[in-house]
Amino acid sequence: MKIISAKFLTGAVSSKQYPDSVCPELAFVGRSNVGKSSLINSLLNKKKLVKTSQTPGKTQEINFFKINNDFIFADLPGYGFAKVPQSVQRRWRKMIENYLLRRETLLAVIFIIDLRRDPSPLDLDLQRWLEACGVEYLLVGTKVDKLSQSEIKKQVNKLNIAYFDGGKGELLIYSSKSSRGRKELWSEITFRLEEFRRN
Ligand code: GTP
Ligand code: MG
Repeated sequence: MKIISAKFLTGAVSSKQYPDSVCPELAFVGRSNVGKSSLINSLLNKKKLVKTSQTPGKTQEINFFKINNDFIFADLPGYGFAKVPQSVQRRWRKMIENYLLRRETLLAVIFIIDLRRDPSPLDLDLQRWLEACGVEYLLVGTKVDKLSQSEIKKQVNKLNIAYFDGGKGELLIYSSKSSRGRKELWSEITFRLEEFRRN
Protein backbone atom coordinates (compact mmCIF):
# COMPACT_ATOMS: atom_id res chain seq x y z
CA MET A 1 0.00 0.00 0.00
CA LYS A 2 1.34 3.38 -0.95
CA ILE A 3 0.58 5.92 1.76
CA ILE A 4 -0.17 9.24 0.13
CA SER A 5 -1.78 10.91 3.11
CA ALA A 6 -2.59 10.12 6.72
CA LYS A 7 -4.34 12.70 8.79
CA PHE A 8 -5.83 12.84 12.26
CA LEU A 9 -9.59 13.41 12.15
CA THR A 10 -10.80 13.49 15.73
CA GLY A 11 -10.83 11.84 19.13
CA ALA A 12 -14.09 10.48 20.51
CA VAL A 13 -15.43 8.91 23.67
CA SER A 14 -19.06 8.57 22.62
CA SER A 15 -20.77 7.62 19.38
CA LYS A 16 -22.03 11.18 18.88
CA GLN A 17 -18.44 12.27 18.49
CA TYR A 18 -17.46 9.71 15.84
CA PRO A 19 -16.63 11.37 12.54
CA ASP A 20 -19.34 11.14 9.89
CA SER A 21 -18.09 8.66 7.38
CA VAL A 22 -18.97 6.38 4.54
CA CYS A 23 -15.43 5.00 4.24
CA PRO A 24 -14.50 1.52 5.36
CA GLU A 25 -12.83 1.52 8.76
CA LEU A 26 -10.32 -0.73 10.52
CA ALA A 27 -10.07 -0.65 14.31
CA PHE A 28 -6.96 -1.52 16.32
CA VAL A 29 -7.88 -3.21 19.58
CA GLY A 30 -5.94 -4.92 22.36
CA ARG A 31 -4.64 -4.76 25.89
CA SER A 32 -3.13 -1.63 27.30
CA ASN A 33 0.50 -1.07 26.24
CA VAL A 34 0.49 -3.97 23.77
CA GLY A 35 1.62 -1.68 20.95
CA LYS A 36 -1.54 -0.64 19.07
CA SER A 37 -0.50 2.96 18.44
CA SER A 38 3.05 1.94 17.48
CA LEU A 39 1.67 -0.60 15.02
CA ILE A 40 -0.43 2.06 13.31
CA ASN A 41 2.59 4.36 13.02
CA SER A 42 4.65 1.51 11.64
CA LEU A 43 2.02 0.46 9.11
CA LEU A 44 1.78 4.04 7.87
CA ASN A 45 5.50 4.63 8.08
CA LYS A 46 4.86 7.75 10.15
CA LYS A 47 6.90 7.85 13.30
CA LYS A 48 4.81 10.33 15.20
CA LEU A 49 1.30 10.35 13.78
CA VAL A 50 -0.13 8.48 16.75
CA LYS A 51 1.04 9.12 20.30
CA THR A 52 2.74 6.15 21.95
CA SER A 53 4.11 5.80 25.45
CA GLN A 54 6.01 3.81 28.05
CA THR A 55 3.09 4.48 30.37
CA PRO A 56 0.19 2.12 29.82
CA GLY A 57 -3.16 3.77 29.38
CA LYS A 58 -1.87 6.47 27.07
CA THR A 59 -4.70 6.30 24.56
CA GLN A 60 -7.87 7.34 26.37
CA GLU A 61 -10.12 8.15 23.45
CA ILE A 62 -10.88 6.53 20.15
CA ASN A 63 -8.65 8.33 17.67
CA PHE A 64 -9.66 8.37 14.02
CA PHE A 65 -7.22 8.75 11.12
CA LYS A 66 -8.12 9.14 7.47
CA ILE A 67 -5.73 7.31 5.16
CA ASN A 68 -5.27 8.23 1.49
CA ASN A 69 -8.61 10.03 1.74
CA ASP A 70 -10.05 6.56 1.25
CA PHE A 71 -10.34 4.55 4.47
CA ILE A 72 -10.09 5.09 8.23
CA PHE A 73 -7.94 3.63 10.99
CA ALA A 74 -9.37 3.85 14.50
CA ASP A 75 -6.92 3.56 17.41
CA LEU A 76 -8.78 2.32 20.47
CA PRO A 77 -7.80 2.71 24.12
CA GLY A 78 -6.30 -0.44 25.60
CA TYR A 79 -8.22 -2.58 28.06
CA GLY A 80 -7.14 -4.35 31.21
CA PHE A 81 -4.55 -2.02 32.67
CA ALA A 82 -4.46 -3.03 36.34
CA LYS A 83 -3.50 0.37 37.71
CA VAL A 84 -6.57 2.05 36.28
CA PRO A 85 -9.45 2.14 38.78
CA GLN A 86 -12.28 -0.36 38.21
CA SER A 87 -14.74 2.42 37.44
CA VAL A 88 -12.51 3.79 34.69
CA GLN A 89 -11.89 0.28 33.32
CA ARG A 90 -15.63 -0.27 33.10
CA ARG A 91 -16.03 3.02 31.27
CA TRP A 92 -13.31 2.06 28.78
CA ARG A 93 -14.85 -1.32 28.21
CA LYS A 94 -18.21 0.27 27.52
CA MET A 95 -16.58 2.75 25.14
CA ILE A 96 -14.89 -0.08 23.20
CA GLU A 97 -17.98 -2.31 23.13
CA ASN A 98 -20.19 0.57 22.03
CA TYR A 99 -17.83 1.39 19.23
CA LEU A 100 -17.57 -2.20 18.02
CA LEU A 101 -21.33 -2.65 18.06
CA ARG A 102 -22.38 0.70 16.65
CA ARG A 103 -19.82 1.72 14.10
CA GLU A 104 -21.62 0.85 10.91
CA THR A 105 -18.63 1.43 8.65
CA LEU A 106 -16.39 -0.94 10.66
CA LEU A 107 -14.88 -3.42 8.24
CA ALA A 108 -12.65 -5.44 10.55
CA VAL A 109 -10.77 -5.34 13.82
CA ILE A 110 -7.02 -5.73 14.02
CA PHE A 111 -6.81 -7.58 17.33
CA ILE A 112 -3.31 -7.06 18.72
CA ILE A 113 -1.62 -9.24 21.32
CA ASP A 114 1.92 -9.37 22.70
CA LEU A 115 3.50 -12.38 21.02
CA ARG A 116 5.49 -13.12 24.19
CA ARG A 117 2.47 -13.46 26.45
CA ASP A 118 0.07 -16.33 26.87
CA PRO A 119 -3.55 -15.31 26.37
CA SER A 120 -5.11 -13.53 29.32
CA PRO A 121 -8.76 -14.11 30.26
CA LEU A 122 -9.48 -10.60 28.98
CA ASP A 123 -8.04 -11.41 25.55
CA LEU A 124 -10.04 -14.60 25.29
CA ASP A 125 -13.15 -12.72 26.45
CA LEU A 126 -12.66 -10.15 23.73
CA GLN A 127 -12.21 -12.88 21.12
CA ARG A 128 -15.41 -14.66 22.20
CA TRP A 129 -17.23 -11.35 22.25
CA LEU A 130 -16.07 -10.46 18.70
CA GLU A 131 -17.17 -13.86 17.45
CA ALA A 132 -20.52 -13.66 19.22
CA CYS A 133 -21.17 -10.22 17.71
CA GLY A 134 -20.01 -11.32 14.27
CA VAL A 135 -17.23 -8.73 14.06
CA GLU A 136 -14.52 -9.83 11.68
CA TYR A 137 -11.03 -9.75 13.19
CA LEU A 138 -7.42 -10.48 12.42
CA LEU A 139 -5.15 -11.61 15.25
CA VAL A 140 -1.70 -10.00 15.23
CA GLY A 141 1.10 -10.89 17.67
CA THR A 142 3.41 -7.92 17.94
CA LYS A 143 6.85 -7.21 19.51
CA VAL A 144 8.20 -10.21 17.60
CA ASP A 145 11.64 -8.49 17.61
CA LYS A 146 11.90 -9.39 21.30
CA LEU A 147 11.97 -13.15 20.62
CA SER A 148 14.47 -15.50 19.00
CA GLN A 149 13.51 -17.47 15.90
CA SER A 150 12.93 -20.67 17.91
CA GLU A 151 10.91 -18.83 20.56
CA ILE A 152 8.76 -17.31 17.81
CA LYS A 153 7.97 -20.71 16.38
CA LYS A 154 7.07 -22.12 19.76
CA GLN A 155 4.93 -19.15 20.75
CA VAL A 156 3.09 -19.00 17.40
CA ASN A 157 2.16 -22.67 17.71
CA LYS A 158 1.04 -22.23 21.25
CA LEU A 159 -1.08 -19.15 20.55
CA ASN A 160 -2.65 -20.65 17.43
CA ILE A 161 -3.83 -23.53 19.58
CA ALA A 162 -4.99 -21.27 22.41
CA TYR A 163 -6.97 -18.94 20.15
CA PHE A 164 -8.06 -21.17 17.30
CA ASP A 165 -7.76 -24.65 18.68
CA GLY A 166 -6.29 -25.84 15.39
CA GLY A 167 -9.27 -24.29 13.56
CA LYS A 168 -9.71 -21.67 10.87
CA GLY A 169 -7.90 -18.62 12.22
CA GLU A 170 -4.27 -17.73 11.90
CA LEU A 171 -1.98 -15.52 13.93
CA LEU A 172 0.12 -12.95 12.05
CA ILE A 173 3.39 -11.75 13.54
CA TYR A 174 4.57 -8.15 13.59
CA SER A 175 7.27 -5.80 14.84
CA SER A 176 6.76 -2.08 14.95
CA LYS A 177 10.47 -1.76 15.60
CA SER A 178 11.75 -3.64 12.55
CA SER A 179 8.55 -3.54 10.44
CA ARG A 180 8.63 -7.32 10.18
CA GLY A 181 5.23 -8.57 9.04
CA ARG A 182 4.26 -5.22 7.53
CA LYS A 183 3.83 -6.55 4.01
CA GLU A 184 1.72 -9.49 5.19
CA LEU A 185 -0.54 -7.33 7.35
CA TRP A 186 -1.05 -4.80 4.55
CA SER A 187 -1.94 -7.59 2.19
CA GLU A 188 -4.64 -8.80 4.61
CA ILE A 189 -5.95 -5.26 4.99
CA THR A 190 -6.03 -4.47 1.25
CA PHE A 191 -7.70 -7.81 0.58
CA ARG A 192 -10.55 -6.78 2.88
CA LEU A 193 -10.75 -3.28 1.43
CA GLU A 194 -10.94 -4.65 -2.10
CA GLU A 195 -13.54 -7.21 -1.10
CA PHE A 196 -15.60 -4.40 0.43
CA ARG A 197 -15.40 -2.35 -2.78
CA ARG A 198 -16.54 -5.30 -4.91
CA ASN A 199 -19.71 -5.70 -2.85
P1 GTP B 1 -2.16 2.17 25.13
O1 GTP B 1 -2.58 3.25 24.20
O2 GTP B 1 -1.67 2.67 26.44
O3 GTP B 1 -3.17 1.10 25.28
O4 GTP B 1 -0.83 1.48 24.50
P2 GTP B 1 -0.61 0.95 23.01
O5 GTP B 1 -1.17 -0.41 22.86
O6 GTP B 1 -1.06 1.97 22.01
O7 GTP B 1 0.99 0.79 22.99
P3 GTP B 1 2.08 1.80 22.40
O8 GTP B 1 2.07 1.75 20.92
O9 GTP B 1 1.97 3.11 23.07
O10 GTP B 1 3.44 1.02 22.84
C1 GTP B 1 3.72 0.69 24.18
C2 GTP B 1 5.21 0.44 24.35
O11 GTP B 1 5.61 -0.73 23.63
C3 GTP B 1 6.07 1.57 23.83
O12 GTP B 1 7.16 1.72 24.71
C4 GTP B 1 6.55 1.06 22.47
O13 GTP B 1 7.79 1.59 22.07
C5 GTP B 1 6.67 -0.44 22.72
N1 GTP B 1 6.46 -1.23 21.48
C6 GTP B 1 5.34 -1.22 20.72
N2 GTP B 1 5.46 -2.07 19.66
C7 GTP B 1 6.69 -2.62 19.75
C8 GTP B 1 7.41 -3.58 18.95
O14 GTP B 1 6.95 -4.13 17.94
N3 GTP B 1 8.68 -3.92 19.39
C9 GTP B 1 9.23 -3.38 20.51
N4 GTP B 1 10.45 -3.78 20.85
N5 GTP B 1 8.58 -2.47 21.28
C10 GTP B 1 7.34 -2.09 20.91
MG1 MG C 1 -2.21 3.64 22.26
